[in-house]
Amino acid sequence: MALPAEILTPGRWQVDARGVPYHPEFGDVYHGIAGALPQARHVFLQGNHLPERWRRRARFTIGETGFGLGHNFLAAWHAWRHDPQRGERLHYLAFEAHPFHAEDLRHAWRRLPADMQGLAQALAAAWPALLPGIHQIELDQGRVTLTLLFGSIRVMARQTLACVDAFFLDGFAPRRNPEMWRPELFAQLRRLAAEGATVATWCAAGQVRRDLQNAGFLVSRQAGFAGKREMTVARLRPGLGRAGDAPRPDTIAVVGAGLAGSAIAHALALRGHRVHVWDSGVPPSSSCARAPAGAALIPALSPDDDTRSRLSRSGLAHARTRWLALAPAARPLACGALVRAGSPAQAQRQQAALARLQFPASWVCWMDQETASRQAGIPLSFGGLWFAQALRVSPPALIHALLHHEAIGYHEGWVARVAARPAGGWQLLDTAGQVLDQAGQVVLANAIDVPRLLADSSVATPWPVLRHLKPLAGQISLYPSGSSTRPACIVAGQGYGLPPLNGWAVAGSTYRPYAAEARVDADGHEDIRRQLAGWLAPGSLPWLDHPEPQGWAGWRAATRDHLPVIGAVPGPPGLWLACGYGSRGLSWAALAGSWLAARLEGAPEPIERELLRRIRVR
Ligand SMILES: Cc1cc2nc3c(=O)[nH]c(=O)nc-3n(C[C@H](O)[C@H](O)[C@H](O)COP(=O)(O)OP(=O)(O)OC[C@H]3O[C@@H](n4cnc5c(N)ncnc54)[C@H](O)[C@@H]3O)c2cc1C
Ligand SMILES: C[S@@+](CC[C@H](N)C(=O)[O-])C[C@H]1O[C@@H](n2cnc3c(N)ncnc32)[C@H](O)[C@@H]1O
Repeated sequence: MALPAEILTPGRWQVDARGVPYHPEFGDVYHGIAGALPQARHVFLQGNHLPERWRRRARFTIGETGFGLGHNFLAAWHAWRHDPQRGERLHYLAFEAHPFHAEDLRHAWRRLPADMQGLAQALAAAWPALLPGIHQIELDQGRVTLTLLFGSIRVMARQTLACVDAFFLDGFAPRRNPEMWRPELFAQLRRLAAEGATVATWCAAGQVRRDLQNAGFLVSRQAGFAGKREMTVARLRPGLGRAGDAPRPDTIAVVGAGLAGSAIAHALALRGHRVHVWDSGVPPSSSCARAPAGAALIPALSPDDDTRSRLSRSGLAHARTRWLALAPAARPLACGALVRAGSPAQAQRQQAALARLQFPASWVCWMDQETASRQAGIPLSFGGLWFAQALRVSPPALIHALLHHEAIGYHEGWVARVAARPAGGWQLLDTAGQVLDQAGQVVLANAIDVPRLLADSSVATPWPVLRHLKPLAGQISLYPSGSSTRPACIVAGQGYGLPPLNGWAVAGSTYRPYAAEARVDADGHEDIRRQLAGWLAPGSLPWLDHPEPQGWAGWRAATRDHLPVIGAVPGPPGLWLACGYGSRGLSWAALAGSWLAARLEGAPEPIERELLRRIRVR
């Protein structure tokens, strides 16, 4: 089932005659006149026996239907933060079909008490662009993760993977907003519920109680808030639900220290795992480049918002969260990217796609020829799509920084085989059959070598995606940029140019499907120059005239559907794949790390179920 391309209608800040925030189309208020925070404490926190229930739990997960103005979230975060007996981590996932713009939230939160202003400001600063799909925000130095599911709950509840301990049911009233109270939704909440999960809502409607009961919850009544006689609370029937407590951090071996392996190792280390990274090649501290010396992270965009587009925009968001926090030497340049149109017809197609998707301009917008030329600092013929958040990355520096974590050990060696241990966990073996390492889990991030490694490990590989994984060589050209600052942003579309960084500008790239080796050569430089000459005005990038560019060459491990392979290897537990990153290693790297870390923690996952199905070992 393909996910429908959903157009988000943002919430609009409005108040009724009493000054209470109000949604005119639903004809209902976001909270009662007695105030959002007292209601949050009485109905949602006490109704779910919080804070008591999150105490002595390493991880606790709250799920909310209807994030709205975020008052319930802020009340829960505030209470958790001020509870000396809280666990290590709070996860909060919330569905919202009509998210507010950050300015509206800031406006609404001016009414919050002084001791909540800091939290509200932190949330507003991290608030995502209003794009459909899953967004994850890390707060409180990573101790609190807010997972926002933007889109209709009818679609998104089925797409969610999480293990929820307490539900806050806070749609508008069932009469006005039936979609938030349907039996089908309660069946999904039951699917997400942990053992002993509880539910609370101000709603006392008999039908809601009966439907919760039918979904597997034991329902009872409690005194309501602010003059309401009753509210509803419920607990999952004993014997139902997902195992609640987070598994303990493990030792994890990662094979491959390229972009895939290093980003996964980094994400796992941040979640408390000890990680052993094995790579046969150059050590990460070496000055040799393991990955392209300069590369671009530009999200894909398709008129039907296909799998690649959804995953790559999520990939960009996770990359920005993780990588813009790194030390300056490794930190990507947040310079934005212009995907230029190559003809008036293509310009029209780009604009038609934007009109169809209606994404916020802060994330992608059309730039006409004049504006695009000004943005790029070079003359362009037809304008193009402007992705303000795109990144120019130096992968070798990035990899070096990602692996530089006290919980990560780097080991040089060729992993010839992996073997499941009878008592659980895995061994890595060298060509002589000697044990190199053992670990609870193993991630194979060794690109084109994955099918060989699985076959030599006697893991049957009936999956076409691995049979058809192809090595695709290519090179980029590196030019001393001199005093040039052009292009001022990434300019892509029939070859690309990256803005100068540390004295080097980058132009790319070549594709050599049948090459016997990946090497930099004069033909490759010429090929790249020719691509750029197809649209660049002569002399607009002066560095391109340098007679002796340098270069970098490497391999892409390409799948037929241009999607990566990320997921568990069916069979004994604890063997994972992260390969097939093709031409988009930067798009998948941080996302795969966040996903695996969440999966191992039992935390809300950052990728929709349907998208995971598309990228699993297939
Ligand atoms: C010319 C060119 C330009 C590119 N430009 C971009 C760009 O602009 N943006 C972008 O997103 N992507 C770009 N890419 C793609 C990107 O470089 C790849 O997608 C990415 O590097 C793949 O990372 P990886 O970790 O999966 O694989 P690799 O980088 O190949 O890493 C795999 C690692 O595994 C190790 N290994 C393999 N087998 C074993 C074993 N058995 N035991 C131990 N170690 C092993 C290898 O030594 C290697 O270090 C480009 C690629 C090329 C070739
Ligand atoms: C009562 S308000 C939530 C108030 C919020 N919990 C707070 O603390 O501010 C209900 C929310 O449900 C959202 N909503 C309504 N229908 C929805 C749907 N079908 N899917 C997802 N969210 C929906 C509304 O946009 C609104 O923000």
